[in-house]
Amino acid sequence: MQPTVPAGLDRKEAEVYLRLDPQRLPQHIAIIMDGNGRWARRRHLPRVAGHRAGVAAVRSTIETAARIRIPALTLYAFSEENWKRRPRGEVDYLMSLLCRYLTKEVPTLNGNNIRLNYIGRQHELPTKVQERMDWARAATANNTGMVLTLALNYSARTEIVDAVRAMIRAAINNGGVDHLTVDETAISGNLYTRHLPDPDLVIRTSGEMRLSNFLLWQLAYAEIYVTPTLWPEFRGLDLLDGISEYQKRERRYGGLVDGSRASPQSHGG
Ligand code: FPP
Repeated sequence: MQPTVPAGLDRKEAEVYLRLDPQRLPQHIAIIMDGNGRWARRRHLPRVAGHRAGVAAVRSTIETAARIRIPALTLYAFSEENWKRRPRGEVDYLMSLLCRYLTKEVPTLNGNNIRLNYIGRQHELPTKVQERMDWARAATANNTGMVLTLALNYSARTEIVDAVRAMIRAAINNGGVDHLTVDETAISGNLYTRHLPDPDLVIRTSGEMRLSNFLLWQLAYAEIYVTPTLWPEFRGLDLLDGISEYQKRERRYGGLVDGSRASPQSHGG
């Protein structure tokens, strides 16, 4: 029986979707959006024009992911390092772009039944940005479809530091460090992503082969897909291409080729 094409996909997306196995879609996709600056430079535009153009890519990717019922999508929007290493003007622009994005896109998120969340040290962002973020999260809180997580002021190493601190604090409140349990379950349970499954697939645009301090713990067994496409040109169709590539991979979790006894706990590949 021919699988049904989800409503809203265009003709090209439908063609790729029909070649996918709907039973083996990734449950969580993480994306490192990269290449906005290069996109702008190639057009002799200021860098911020690349960020502005990146919003259309965000919209298309989110909508396609929700339409094909991906349960969780996480986008790396601003790293902790971005604040420290970019010119003030660019950082200010990114902040106001985020506020405008949140204000404008909430109806689209609600129209697609998407619940918005964040990871990263939100309390270090400007108060106005924090307020807009809280507003958008509350405005989508009753949605029951895809969870869209924006990584904002995010660093994977900081996340692990925060998790360890939270574990120690909890142990002290619970009678002292004798009550501290340190194992993988405890660390996973204290990460910002504790309510999400680990990503099955991580996509990076613009051809760079790095994880750039993104979800280092959670990506331990993820399939990595790098596309040369610059982020402003990325669309839902490119997401489907990434999923198609993911479905060609053999996930072993350190097990053997036939997959027997494969589990995320074992090591080696
Ligand atoms: C990386 O490109 C991109 C960013 C640091 C910002 C990401 C922002 C967006 C995609 C637009 C808005 C997003 C939301 C969620 C509102 P780069 O500047 O590092 O590109 P380069 O490596 O070519 O210089």
